[in-house]
Amino acid sequence: MQYDLVIKNIGQLLTMENATGPVKGKQMKELTVHEGKAIGIKDGKTSIIADSKDLEQAEAHHVIDAQGRLVTPGLVDPHTHFVFGGSRENELALKQQGVPYLEILKQGGGILSTVRETHKATEKELYEKALFHLNRMMSYGVTTVEGKSGYGLNRETELKQLRVMKSLNEKNQIDIVSTFLGAHAIPPEYKDNKAAFLEEMTVILDEIKEEELAEFVDIFCETGVFSVEESKQYLQKAKEKGFDVKIHADEIDPLGGTELAVDLGAASGDHLVGASKEGISDLAGSNTVAVLLPGTTFYLGKDSYARARKMIDEGAAVALATDFNPGSSPTENLQLIMSLAALKLKMTPEEIWHAVTVNAAYAINRGETAGQIAEGRKADIVIWNAPNYLYIPYHYGVNHVHTVVKNGNPVVE
Ligand code: NIG
Ligand code: FE
Repeated sequence: MQYDLVIKNIGQLLTMENATGPVKGKQMKELTVHEGKAIGIKDGKTSIIADSKDLEQAEAHHVIDAQGRLVTPGLVDPHTHFVFGGSRENELALKQQGVPYLEILKQGGGILSTVRETHKATEKELYEKALFHLNRMMSYGVTTVEGKSGYGLNRETELKQLRVMKSLNEKNQIDIVSTFLGAHAIPPEYKDNKAAFLEEMTVILDEIKEEELAEFVDIFCETGVFSVEESKQYLQKAKEKGFDVKIHADEIDPLGGTELAVDLGAASGDHLVGASKEGISDLAGSNTVAVLLPGTTFYLGKDSYARARKMIDEGAAVALATDFNPGSSPTENLQLIMSLAALKLKMTPEEIWHAVTVNAAYAINRGETAGQIAEGRKADIVIWNAPNYLYIPYHYGVNHVHTVVKNGNPVVE
């Protein structure tokens, strides 16, 4: 066999193999670490994982000597908002003066200011800007990313955002999973008529389905935005139309969005900072993945973080994401989130690796194709400038990537 690429002399290898669903509770601590392996890649797929000595003589177009480095699956970032116009650096000063996130939104800033910028931007401008962020994510080891609309809040601009994501997915290596988040905030013209706004978003769902512009529908279930009841009715309609659902739940106030996510059989409930005891035990009894976003809690300047320990100890499946967006979490760096998960969520390195690979993939219905290295699977692989898997959450704030292999090709070196 002539391989396209052989990665030899791997130090520690995490394959995260054999999971057939989200990895839950205590199982998140069990990590198989292979040593002294090599990987042979052909036609974009992992064709063999063998002892390094067995592939020493193999014919290959290209050989990378990992020289004892750590090798893992490409990271999966399961919650981001990477298509938007403008930026919000002016809000940092407001935050320093103590103006709360929801207050900035109430005054027409925050999400609504990004909505104004996104309305103004052309499809081409949004494409170029989003591509810049995607390339940066990939440089940090991310090979699959979820992205949400939600900075349009009207038919035209929501569809514009989703079309940009579709075209980015078709024209670039990184895999993009799209979510329609039309119910992200209430536009000023609907301030006194939320029902009519949600109806308008519901009507667009058919078009989105027809053009295959999104797989998931999401809603911001929060004080001053959408209530649990409104979220429930809206997402039920989305499910009837054939979408899978997600919820921005209990991010700031504990409203009961976590319970709703489980009730609806959502692929994920996201944020969950204020998740109740009941919500956590519901999660444990379900396959809904808790997508935790400690970067957002950090950046909002809050002291209490999502109760990851309780979630895992009770048996829930936890994933981690950047929540990359221009307001509450301006960072593309998922490695930084891994450090915050260790320091603020008290997750162990073993749990963290599950949370950014296999569980992150299941949170966006990509468990069968992303988040694991296995023979026959698409070869999305990262070689790290690190001697072992403990090292990435430990040495924080910098980029440890040595090489990113996407679909079998080294794309970042
Ligand atoms: O996940 N909470 C709502 N949406 C985003 C923030 C979006 C923004 O501030 O632009 C979040 O935190
Ligand atoms: Fe978000």
